[in-house]
Amino acid sequence: MTTTTGTSMAPDPVQVAVEQELTDTVVASFKNTPDERLKTLMESLTRHLHSFIREVRLTEEEWDAAINFLTACGHITDDKRQEFILLSDIFGASMQTVAVNNPTHGNATEATVFGPFFTEDAPEIPNGGDIAGGATGQPCWVEGTITTTEGKPVPGARIEVWEADDEGFYDAQYSDGRIAGRAHLFADENGQYSFWGLTPTPYPIPHDGPVGKLLAAVNRSPVRASHLHFMVTAPGQRTLVTHIFVDGDPQIAIGDSVFGVKDSLIKKFIEQKPGTPTPNSRDLAGQPWARTRFDIVLAPEAGNIPKSHD
Ligand code: BEZ
Ligand code: FE
Repeated sequence: MTTTTGTSMAPDPVQVAVEQELTDTVVASFKNTPDERLKTLMESLTRHLHSFIREVRLTEEEWDAAINFLTACGHITDDKRQEFILLSDIFGASMQTVAVNNPTHGNATEATVFGPFFTEDAPEIPNGGDIAGGATGQPCWVEGTITTTEGKPVPGARIEVWEADDEGFYDAQYSDGRIAGRAHLFADENGQYSFWGLTPTPYPIPHDGPVGKLLAAVNRSPVRASHLHFMVTAPGQRTLVTHIFVDGDPQIAIGDSVFGVKDSLIKKFIEQKPGTPTPNSRDLAGQPWARTRFDIVLAPEAGNIPKSHD
């Protein structure tokens, strides 16, 4: 223990016993929980929370500030704005949960954070179609294959893709109800897919609320590395939620605000000069465009999920 004058002193054993007894009593209060898993979660959360409070010697003012912070997160949250997901993301709690539940499996594509902007209502497009739906940005041809870890194509795999426009906003962040920068499509009989998206650009997570204030207080940037979201589902395969990132994006070195970047997900987006013929003869009226390739390998369903970390 450190006193306010900075000198260390041994903790008072009576005080330690009082604090430990409270922790033990609260842990014991969950002993009749019928659901074993809930019992484990509540007991462990209690131990970790008490241990945090005791370790940092949390003041009553700090606890009040924490309650006020969580209250503000609740007040700003609605069906379009989810401050608690942002909070989980900036603590790396979302990515840690992804890591625990999507263990590496051979050459399977790595998963990353889901984020708050997926919606169920994305229109279907054919292979080679355009996801933009009016979202602004540089057209980008995206293609690849979906295979199993044994290299077998996965025909008919469902691919959801979504991304922000070049102003840094998802459709859901506009109040006009537009659906743009998102779609779903299906891999063809050879497990191949392709679509026109937009070359991703960096953008901040919503930072005009309590989570943004917290990031400012700790001198951290809200900006995410440029990315394009994917969710791929196929019978018998583990659902993959991931993104691809843009090789050379300086934000990768600066740091992604939600810790989502993995080296294996950084892809080359190759710039094409205006007038370069497009893969499916799309007329881009002389605009520059880009292309990238993302070959996706799906792990088998429930493949290799460990029950505990040790
Ligand atoms: C996103 O990828 O859009 C995102 C992820 C985490 C928090 C906010 C946004
Ligand atoms: Fe995103």
